[in-house]
Amino acid sequence: MNVNRKVLTLDEFTLQQLRNFPHATGELSNLLRDIGLAAKRVNVEVNKAGLVDILGDAGTVNVQGEDVKKLDIYANNQLMGVLSHGISCAGIGSEELPEFVVFDDEASNNSKYVCLFDPLDGSGNIDVNVSIGTIFCVYRRISEKGKPCTREDFLQPGRNMVAAGYIIYGSSTMMVYATRRGVNGFTLDPSIGEFTLSHPNIKCPETGKIYSVNHGNFFQYEKGVQAYIDACQKKNKDNGGPYTQRYIGSMVADVHRNLIKGGIFMYPATIDKPKGKLRLLYECNPFAFIVEVAGGKATNGRQRILDVQPTELHQRSSLFIGSRKMMEELETYLARS
Ligand code: AHG
Ligand code: MN
Ligand code: MN
Repeated sequence: MNVNRKVLTLDEFTLQQLRNFPHATGELSNLLRDIGLAAKRVNVEVNKAGLVDILGDAGTVNVQGEDVKKLDIYANNQLMGVLSHGISCAGIGSEELPEFVVFDDEASNNSKYVCLFDPLDGSGNIDVNVSIGTIFCVYRRISEKGKPCTREDFLQPGRNMVAAGYIIYGSSTMMVYATRRGVNGFTLDPSIGEFTLSHPNIKCPETGKIYSVNHGNFFQYEKGVQAYIDACQKKNKDNGGPYTQRYIGSMVADVHRNLIKGGIFMYPATIDKPKGKLRLLYECNPFAFIVEVAGGKATNGRQRILDVQPTELHQRSSLFIGSRKMMEELETYLARS
């Protein structure tokens, strides 16, 4: 049997990274491994979603008033389970839970981090076999170690983030995570059940040809956004336009594609949703961190996403995110209106 030693598993990679920091405790590597484990379990269920009677609404409504699908709950419970059994996480905040959860046992109270996640993103796409994902981010807690974590640990501005990542359950399953040192992507090798390094040191192209937005809401967007979308559709030799429009409706899949190929993703405020639809803590912040580390930009149209001081766990935000030059072009339209 051929053993390809060029292939690094997620665990091998995080351990290698650890060697660069002789004083590191390994807690973050542990936490990423825990999330990888939960992701593999979710992946198994997502893969058979078309076969088993796991589809449909779980019969409850989440804190944002949206129907909860059964897989959302499954994914939420898997993440919560591995993180509460692990030794790196003092508590979690989840899109599916009304309040943050303090693990409050000795190991958890003594751990460094808290974790926030959207257990299943794009869950409206499950029953039509379209890519969905999991989004997470990690903060160093500011509350005193040895005690239970507190609300302040969860309401930190995104710029304090230590790591963020996502899992995309697509034509292959991938985990991509960022620390301040870089963004790396791992593809799940189903034959050995391991995430293996397939996309080292991901950089978001400076510019691209893809814009992603829900066109159905066009007449609900502010004038500057409308003017930019118009410009995306026009011939323009300076920016390579017209651009191509791509919108899956699973943010993980849309932003992942644009991160790799270059592009811009927008979920602006609408008349119906004047604060935007996406959640600052579980969706906007983690992606803003990943895309910035990869060289791109993320704003809410007025302010850098990572500088927003959150006031509530389930706060909504508008989001513009992607390749640096495309974001700068958008900013000129927003400034004009
Ligand atoms: P979730 O499934 O976690 O509720 O998130 C869905 C989000 C996001 O993934 C996607 O980009 C957006 O909702 C799509 O919304 P529209 O259908 O309004 O375009
Ligand atoms: Mn989501
Ligand atoms: Mn979700």
